[in-house]
Amino acid sequence: MKFKRIMITGGAGFVGSSIALRLRSNWPSTRITCIDNLHRKGSTLNLVRLKKAGIDFIRADVRNRKTFDRSRFDLIIDAAAEPSVMAGVGGSDVKYVIDTNLGGTLNILEAARIWESAVLFISTSRVYPLQALRNIRLDEKETRFEISEKQSLPGISVKGISELFPTQGVRTLYGATKYASEIMASEYAEQYGIKVLLDRCGVIAGPWQMGRVDQGIIALWISAHYYGLPLSYIGYKGKQVRDLIHVDDFADLVIAQINSGFDVWDGRVYNVGGGRACSLSLLELSELAREITGRSLKIKKIATTRVGDVPLYITDARKVQQAFAWKPQKSAVSIVADTARWIADYRDILAKVFCK
Ligand SMILES: NC(=O)c1ccc[n+]([C@@H]2O[C@H](COP(=O)([O-])OP(=O)(O)OC[C@H]3O[C@@H](n4cnc5c(N)ncnc54)[C@H](O)[C@@H]3O)[C@@H](O)[C@H]2O)c1
Repeated sequence: MKFKRIMITGGAGFVGSSIALRLRSNWPSTRITCIDNLHRKGSTLNLVRLKKAGIDFIRADVRNRKTFDRSRFDLIIDAAAEPSVMAGVGGSDVKYVIDTNLGGTLNILEAARIWESAVLFISTSRVYPLQALRNIRLDEKETRFEISEKQSLPGISVKGISELFPTQGVRTLYGATKYASEIMASEYAEQYGIKVLLDRCGVIAGPWQMGRVDQGIIALWISAHYYGLPLSYIGYKGKQVRDLIHVDDFADLVIAQINSGFDVWDGRVYNVGGGRACSLSLLELSELAREITGRSLKIKKIATTRVGDVPLYITDARKVQQAFAWKPQKSAVSIVADTARWIADYRDILAKVFCK
């Protein structure tokens, strides 16, 4: 492995800590340092796991340029963000979202330029504009929406949304800050020869995700069933669909990308997700949650949708699968079951995160 020192920003978060642990077990002699300001409720729980695995942790903020005044790292994995699609809605937290999601990435890119290090940027499917996503033609089935055969937009087929999907239009503050970061990361790759890869991920799920109503839907849904908390279907009668990828499958991809050499680390974008085969609607998720936890919740249907809501997102991940000879292994059922097992195993500790 070519990297001796890896920095993971947002390394106490769900994705960052999971990647850190996987890199540690794959490359025991590589020094891994996680940076996090512990903004996300529940992120402190991951510190124990990091420590046990011998991963360095520094409590620091990516908004502060001084966070990167230290000796060089060969690779920075940027997983620090306010990842809520509702962030900034109604004017709250606007500065925090922009300064973290965009300003933090700019600090990382500057550090990478000076250190001559590579950057893996964890981006999001939320960079695709809302109106274009809402213009995808859908068929309404009994429990879910499906993508129709006939489409008028580029980059959409029954296989899902590819990298050729339009990027013009508004997309929420979260999506916009991530898209702006992508543009800057590609620019740094071109101007300064930094090795940059951009993974545009759909829903990532699995154990250690501190799910909330605005982010981390699988953990939120299962925890609500587990602890008997209220849930509602917001818009679309519960038929809204997302594809899922288990965080372990994503970590495997990161390893494949690091192993791949640098040929494609040129600011290239990959859509990453589990695809149609690993997708669920909320109605289907409720049914699975009921089977796994043995609890049936009365879930009310709210007709009005929220600012960033879309009826469907399914990844066409053929490009990334081909480029890195990688395929996600875990099904939607096993993602839900793994999450439920984790909540059961840490029932008391997690109650402090999931139950207000
Ligand atoms: N989980 C998903 O479904 C998903 C999907 C697509 C993309 N992503 C991206 O993956 C990355 C990680 O997301 P996640 O799901 O692990 O979220 P998370 O909230 O669990 O992790 C993000 C971490 O960043 C930290 N953080 C926030 N502001 C910070 C700051 N100013 N300085 C330092 N640390 C800060 C938080 O404390 C948290 O631990 C994000 O960039 C997100 O956009 C996640």
